[in-house]
Amino acid sequence: MKDELLRQIKDEVLNLKESPLYQERKKNAVFPVIGEGNHDCRIMFIGEAPGKNEAATGRPFCGAAGRILDELLASAGIERNDVYITNIVKDRPPFNRDPLPEEIKTYGPFLDRQINIIQPHVIATLGRFSMEYIMRKFNLQDELQPISKIHGLMFPARAEYGSVKIIPLYHPAVAIYDNSTKDTLKNDFQVLKSI
Ligand code: URA
Repeated sequence: MKDELLRQIKDEVLNLKESPLYQERKKNAVFPVIGEGNHDCRIMFIGEAPGKNEAATGRPFCGAAGRILDELLASAGIERNDVYITNIVKDRPPFNRDPLPEEIKTYGPFLDRQINIIQPHVIATLGRFSMEYIMRKFNLQDELQPISKIHGLMFPARAEYGSVKIIPLYHPAVAIYDNSTKDTLKNDFQVLKSI
């Protein structure tokens, strides 16, 4: 049942001709990135948008940021196969620019459906765009602060399917050239391990 509903989302995104990023996808002969992982996971990770490697393969976090994510998961003893990983925006913004508000509006409903189908107990956001989207979605807008203030904290919330914990994390890409952020991220991933 979950597989079927998720496949439906994939088909809809594949045919999302009204999105300007669809034109980019066709022009560059690349793929949307729907998400990947365990459909019965406890933890769902939500990044921002596919980068070059992700659009080339259709897989989330498979480039440099993905290698950091893999390292962080390993440091917390979490198997990548046990979690689900996706992004808010499913098509690559040109030149890896930040997603535009209208792109988040276009692709957000697909993410909302993925969350309701997968029903994770924990949602870990990667970066400020998914942090803002998810915290507003779960009525945590009053708790929103710069990511430097609230990374690694756990915010209990209610989803349509029950309770869920939201944990904002830095985007792994910020740790590519910055070891102190990587240490911070490793520390924050221990929170995931503990639950
Ligand atoms: N950055 C993201 O936010 N998502 C990916 O899938 C890859 C890099």
